[in-house]
Amino acid sequence: PTELPLVLLLFGGTGDLAKRKLYPSLFNLFKKGYLQKHFAVIGTARHPLDDEKFQEVVRQSIAKNGTEGQVKEFAAHFRYSSHDVTDLKDYGKLKNMLAKLDKEFDAGGNRIFYMSVAPRFFGQIAQAIKSEGLMSDTGYNRLMVEKPFGTSYKTAEELQNQLESGFSDDQIFRIDHYLGKEMVQNIPAVRFGNPILDATWNKNYIKNVQVTLAEQLGVEERAGYYNTAGALLDMIQNHAFQIVGWLAMEKPSSFSDTDIRAAKNTVFSKLKMYDEREVVANFVRGQYGRGREVWQKSYTEEPNVPADSKNDTYVAGRLQFENDRWTGVPFYIRTGKRLAAKQTRVDIVYKKSSFDFGKFNQDKLSEPVLSILIDPVGGINFSLNGKNVTTEFETRSDLLKWSISDQDKVKTPDPYERMLHDAMNGDGSNFADWNGVSISWKFVDQIAKVWAEDKAPLEIYESATMGSVASDRLLAETGDRWIYRG
Ligand code: BG6
Repeated sequence: PTELPLVLLLFGGTGDLAKRKLYPSLFNLFKKGYLQKHFAVIGTARHPLDDEKFQEVVRQSIAKNGTEGQVKEFAAHFRYSSHDVTDLKDYGKLKNMLAKLDKEFDAGGNRIFYMSVAPRFFGQIAQAIKSEGLMSDTGYNRLMVEKPFGTSYKTAEELQNQLESGFSDDQIFRIDHYLGKEMVQNIPAVRFGNPILDATWNKNYIKNVQVTLAEQLGVEERAGYYNTAGALLDMIQNHAFQIVGWLAMEKPSSFSDTDIRAAKNTVFSKLKMYDEREVVANFVRGQYGRGREVWQKSYTEEPNVPADSKNDTYVAGRLQFENDRWTGVPFYIRTGKRLAAKQTRVDIVYKKSSFDFGKFNQDKLSEPVLSILIDPVGGINFSLNGKNVTTEFETRSDLLKWSISDQDKVKTPDPYERMLHDAMNGDGSNFADWNGVSISWKFVDQIAKVWAEDKAPLEIYESATMGSVASDRLLAETGDRWIYRG
């Protein structure tokens, strides 16, 4: 591969994400040759640390993934700067370091600023990068920003304005790690790569679309954050919406990032916005109660969760797009913690054939279903009608199955590796853009408001089940049922 020279400035350089994801991902890009000699990484955090100790942190995070020689050579590209993101004076140091390392490593003036710090600092940092002259004028300047992108439409817009004061939208790479997942990226391959699917990807053939983001784990140690966010903000506003974007989008005029985003935005702008009554009719919330095992405590028994918390750990709902392609086709989305299994998937439910095979086949035809399995095991399932092995003519449903081989699994890049690589290439295809993010916030705000005012029931569901019964009712209302049942 061609080398992609740059200096990466990472705010939050000793944090958990850096150690668990970013350094191993950068190391993979190094081993593959996308990073060679012409790159440097500056890590910052508040506490003092020298370069040697910082490099030791980096080495430890990748030690298992390469030879001693590779690990050493890679870590030698890392520098540390103790930095207070709120203190403008501190940015001068970074400016000098950037210039110096750019020269030392001949990095072509390319810069990525990566914000892996508490979200309340994002806006301030972006403004300081601009005002304190950290940007280069010889190469590219790109900003990578972690989630959450705001906590409501209003706060997201404020953040967007702050980011925009320093960076144009094509320089901002909003990370949604679901967009970096192999099988999420497989959605457009399957849809646009097969005319039989592409041509039928609409209301004439599709009955409903289901997106399931089920988790087995509970809130773990993150109650401080999670109890203020809930499943709606933690998973629906971002991950579920981004997957729906790939599924519902119009066909892009080319596979470039601008055309992909435009095609997604066209459909997002046709999302039906709900008023209070429609929120109650189309969305349900739940919270996990105890399970059968002793360790399966209820959400309100978890450490640091207030006993009277009405936080949602489960959300299911129906999205509707009012356009030619989709009018009348519900997009069901659901997510929850402490469910029966970890299962991230999309199920496209096609309409049933109305062909009459005769009296022995009454009610035997099923709805064909195309399932794109995302996690924990990637794959594609297609259930089709075929003939049953009977004397009288009868049909039955059979399953065609493909799953990612162990070999492919080993080769699959981590979402962070892919996202870093895309940002270095300036490819925004797999990042969330402001227009989509703003629409999903406006939509989600309506739901959050109804729930904050306690105008909808909160169902307590048993841990290690598939969650709220109300969500089954929601689908039953329109003659549908969840394909994945745990
Ligand atoms: C994160 C959420 O964005 O995604 C977590 O904050 C959630 O609550 C996680 O557990 C799930 O990601 P994945 O990749 O494990 O499905």
